[in-house]
Formats: sequence, C-alpha cells, structure tokens
Amino acid sequence: MLAGRKVLVGVTGSIAAYRAAEVVRGLVREGAETRVVMTAAARRFVSHVTFATLSGHPVATRLFDGGPVHIELARFAEAAVVVPATANILGKVAHGIADDLLSTVLLACTAPVLFCPAMNASMYRHPAVQASIGRLKEMGYHFAEPGTGALACGEEGPGRLAEPEAILEHVGRLLAPKDLAGLTVLVTAGPTREPLDPVRFISNRSSGKMGYAVAAAAAARGARVILVSGPTQLAPPAGVETVWVETAREMLARVREFYPAADVVVKAAAVADYRPAGVSEHKIKKEGETLHLVLEKNPDILATLGREKGRRILVGFAAETEELVPRARRKLEEKNLDLLVANDVTLPGAGFGTDTNVVQLVYRDGRVVPLPLMTKRALAHRILDEVLRLRAAPGP
Ligand code: CTP
Repeated sequence: MLAGRKVLVGVTGSIAAYRAAEVVRGLVREGAETRVVMTAAARRFVSHVTFATLSGHPVATRLFDGGPVHIELARFAEAAVVVPATANILGKVAHGIADDLLSTVLLACTAPVLFCPAMNASMYRHPAVQASIGRLKEMGYHFAEPGTGALACGEEGPGRLAEPEAILEHVGRLLAPKDLAGLTVLVTAGPTREPLDPVRFISNRSSGKMGYAVAAAAAARGARVILVSGPTQLAPPAGVETVWVETAREMLARVREFYPAADVVVKAAAVADYRPAGVSEHKIKKEGETLHLVLEKNPDILATLGREKGRRILVGFAAETEELVPRARRKLEEKNLDLLVANDVTLPGAGFGTDTNVVQLVYRDGRVVPLPLMTKRALAHRILDEVLRLRAAPGP
C-alpha cells in the first residue's frame, strides 16, 4: 500500500531519532516517496545528511527557506508520521502552536498523521503530556503506542519508541483503501508441529511472515480477518482474530470451523505433509545406532477446502526447489484453486524467514505472472489486488 504513496516524516529531538532512519529506510524500500522534516533539536541527535541520503531528497528544517515550504509539504503528504514524537511536539500540536517548520506543517496538513511518542517514562506519564495525547486522539490523530522497558535515560517504564516495523505497518493502514470491507478473509500461516514424544516434534522452517503480512494487509483494507497460525515468533497483527494451532489436524479443524463464513482463503501455512504414526507417551530413549520413524500422511487442508469451494476465492502457496511452474499448475488443478503463489525457495531473497519474496502468480486460466523481488508486505497487497480482480471476473 506504500508503493508510490507520498509520506512526510517529521523527526523531533529524542534519542530515538536514530530509529527514525529505519522507518525512512523502510518507507523507501516499500516504494513510498518520502520527505523528511527535522526540528532543530532532532538535528542535535542525527545529521540531516542521514535522512537526505535515505530519502533521496533534501531535508526541510527551516520555516522561512524561500517560499511557503510548510504549505508545499502539507499538500505533498498523503500521510504524515512524526517519529519520534517528543512531549514538545505533542503539546504544540494539541494546542495549535506553530513556531517552527514541523509544527506549522502539521497544522496545515489535512492528511492522516501518526504520532510515535518516545520520551522518558516520567515525562510520558505527566498529566500534561497525557492530556495532549488525549486531546490529539479526540482530534483524530493516530498513535503508535510506545513500548515499556528500559529507556535510554536509565529509567524503566513506558516511553520507548514503537518498533519501526510496527510503525511502517501502521502507516500502511492509514493509506490503505477499504476495498475489502464486508469480506471475511481466512488466512493460515506458519509451520505445523507434529509431535513424536512429549518433548520432540517434526516441523519446518516457515517463519509465518508471509501469512501474517497477508492477514495484516487484509485487515488494513477493511476485511474481517481470521488468522489460523501455527507456532511462530511473530506478534499477531492488529485488528486480526488469531487462532493458534500446533498440528496439521488441528489446523484443519479450526479452518473448517471458520470456512463457512469465509469469502477468501489464503493458505500460506507450511503444513507438514506427514506426521509420526504414533506419539510416544514417554520420551524416546537413545538406544540403537539408528532410529526408524514411521510417518503417515496428513490431510491436505487446501484440497479439502477446494472440494467445497462454492464462490470462495482460494489462494495457495507452493515452495519449490525445481520445476516451479509445472508443479504449481498441477497443484492449482488438484486443489481446485483460483491462484497459486509459487516461490522458488532457492532464489536469493525468497522463501523462509526473509522479509522479501520472489514469486510467480499462476492462474486457473493458465497465465503465469512472474513478479520482481518485493517485500512480503507489498506482495501481500498484490495478492489481495488479484483476489479482488478474481472476485470481479465473471465465473466459468
Ligand atoms: N497444504 C495444505 N495441507 C497440507 C499440505 C499443504 O493445506 N497437508 C497447502 C499449503 O498451505 C499451501 C499448499 O497447500 O498453500 C502447498 O501445496 P503442497 O502440495 O503441499 O506443496 P508443498 O508441501 O510445498 O510441496 P510437495 O507436497 O510437492 O512437497
């Protein structure tokens, strides 16, 4: 949702200013046209050269630099993000004070604005700061809530800047069209775990990132999203109903429960194709030189759904290391899918654990569309664009 969009970043004077560089970098990586405004205090923490280099544009710092810079920048912004946001900028905007470039731009700006507070915990808890935040929220400003923990000042408490990834996600939500409103999207993600004994299991390298990105993107675009997730290290995306499962059979049961309500199913989970034929009640002891495991086949969840497809749009994923397209075509047909997202996991930037992916979209009508390397977030939106197109297309 960020590609080609115009985002204004305001940087104010907190030690967290250096983390704003990660946000700007992320925005640019997602294809957003990014302009940065820095306050005088911010420039004491990080050089404007850093932001000029990352954004590819000069950094605006002064109100009276030639023409009406503040109006130009306010008009430029489709969304603005103040990262980090100090007590000072929150207080100023809450009370309509415009005494430097950033505060003036923010008053002139009619686009959605996201504040990402970062400050000392006592400052953050101060009633005046809390009152500013309350006032700004009433006015419709958005907030990336700060985390709690050890702060740079040595204190513990709330005031730590939200994670750059969460900030990028939030900016994406502000810009997303609500074109999936009214639809229910069922997403599966992550690996499954198939137990061998009380302490061991068989699993795979899936991180869950692709499925979580689809869930987050669908929620940002207004869908009701149910995410059925295997065990992952990821935080569930905002605004998504997350259901945790471990085994393929549990995943099948939960997916079937939500399937009747679903208009769209995106099956990004890396489901274990086989499970140990029996789960040992006690820990398996090392005895012989070899250990033979007997595995039995798991149900194919997607194929099961494909048999009761109705008018739903079904999207599958396939990770291959060879013969990508012929195999993808076969799977699409066998599982009765509308779209198969095929990735060659041997390519650099593709596959497990990465934030990017390189895929080919394989359609029912035989079309194959190779996509360039892109972030999983951008790919998630692209997949949802295709889902909308497929829904709009006349059925066979
Ligand atoms: N899938 C599923 N249930 C399974 C296995 C896979 O729903 N038991 C889904 C996955 O979520 C994914 C697609 O099917 O969307 C992957 O297809 P699959 O044929 O299982 O491919 P791979 O396991 O990647 O490869 P292969 O079976 O060819 O080794």
